[in-house]
Amino acid sequence: MAIRDLRVDGQPENRTGVKKLRVGVLGMGFMGGTHTQAWQRVKATFNLPIDIEMKALFDMSDRSLELNGPRYEFERTTSDWREVCSADDIDVVSICTPNFAHAEAAEMALAHGKHIWCEKPMAASLADAERMRQAAHAAKAKGLKTILGYNYIKSPTLLAIKQIIDEGVIGDIVHFNGVYAEDFMCDMDMPHSWRLTKAGGGKGALGDMGSHQVSMAIWLCGPMKEVSSRLQTVHPQRPDAATGEMKAVETDDQYSAIGTFENGGLFTMHTSWLGQGHKMQLAFEVTGTKGAIKFDQERMGEFQLFEQSGNDNMRTNGFKTVLIGPWHAPFGNFCPAPGHHVGFNEMKIIEAGEFCRAILEGDEAFPNFDDGMVFETALQAIQDASEARAWVTL
Ligand SMILES: NC(=O)c1ccc[n+]([C@@H]2O[C@H](COP(=O)([O-])OP(=O)(O)OC[C@H]3O[C@@H](n4cnc5c(N)ncnc54)[C@H](O)[C@@H]3O)[C@@H](O)[C@H]2O)c1
Repeated sequence: MAIRDLRVDGQPENRTGVKKLRVGVLGMGFMGGTHTQAWQRVKATFNLPIDIEMKALFDMSDRSLELNGPRYEFERTTSDWREVCSADDIDVVSICTPNFAHAEAAEMALAHGKHIWCEKPMAASLADAERMRQAAHAAKAKGLKTILGYNYIKSPTLLAIKQIIDEGVIGDIVHFNGVYAEDFMCDMDMPHSWRLTKAGGGKGALGDMGSHQVSMAIWLCGPMKEVSSRLQTVHPQRPDAATGEMKAVETDDQYSAIGTFENGGLFTMHTSWLGQGHKMQLAFEVTGTKGAIKFDQERMGEFQLFEQSGNDNMRTNGFKTVLIGPWHAPFGNFCPAPGHHVGFNEMKIIEAGEFCRAILEGDEAFPNFDDGMVFETALQAIQDASEARAWVTL
């Protein structure tokens, strides 16, 4: 889980050995837009010896294809995702469709020799995720790479926090406390969707949002060892988007978990999409034996650090706020001046940059499908612990 410094410091681009990457995108919803924009900006942002061609866009909606095909300058559009996964003129596929559709697309595209950038969570079930992992393993011999869309751990702020923890600035990890709250499902009239079925989303807030929280905790603090939890469905029915008829909700609205990491540290975490007033409170505090560090995605351009040593004056002893700047790579690839912010789409460009480097240099990207299985296994353990009303060992 090493951090790769993506700075190129203005080096002239080496045009020998430029690699052509012909891209297919599956799904033009929220994520499809961010992947497409990232593909279009990654080469210049990181001065990569790469030529990106936007080849094919799949979407279920003809209206979306009519609008977004020309808008993003795709060479063609299609309402058949299999055509994209099997096409001879495509090298890499962005999977931005609902969770249940990831596995089949990934397997098919890998079998046809394509690199895969797949959105999180990896799949709607652990069995599907394992199929994807195995397909990626089989494709490794052909040099094919995978990466999952865990964008929040790509921000310059999170990369800086990870470095600080790894350098031992806050000492050995004692506690990770995470809260992830959004309020987009608070409205009880919010219609039913694939996210609320076991077959479609797999897990509810746990899979949709908890996957970010769990991956972040593991990335920062190491593998989880054991967990106890409680999942809860607060609103058991939601109206069908077309008919208004009430349909059963099969997945969780929120969960709380407690457990330990393999290194002995404790974790506590809560995630909810019923978090009144919160838009993107993906927040945590990591406490160590020598200090502590705090972060909240709603203020993604800063973090708070407390170092125990050198804080002897009790009148000023406390956390300091650090604003992100060009010295926190790869912030400088976007902006030369500190105190400004990068945003969601920039995290996606960093993710695309990491993926392109892996493809160009033959390294593994992080998190690939192997890493994704570690996260999926932890998510499943959290669900199993709640269902069994028992501690689960990972
Ligand atoms: N990384 C992040 O921060 C983040 C944020 C939001 C969503 N996601 C993930 O991205 C994926 C897509 O989410 P979204 O919010 O973009 O969804 P969305 O509803 O905005 O878009 C989904 C797209 O999939 C297509 N689609 C719908 N049903 C399909 C089917 N049966 N088969 C194939 N395609 C189908 C639709 O045409 C649509 O373009 C999900 O896995 C989600 O968990 C990740």
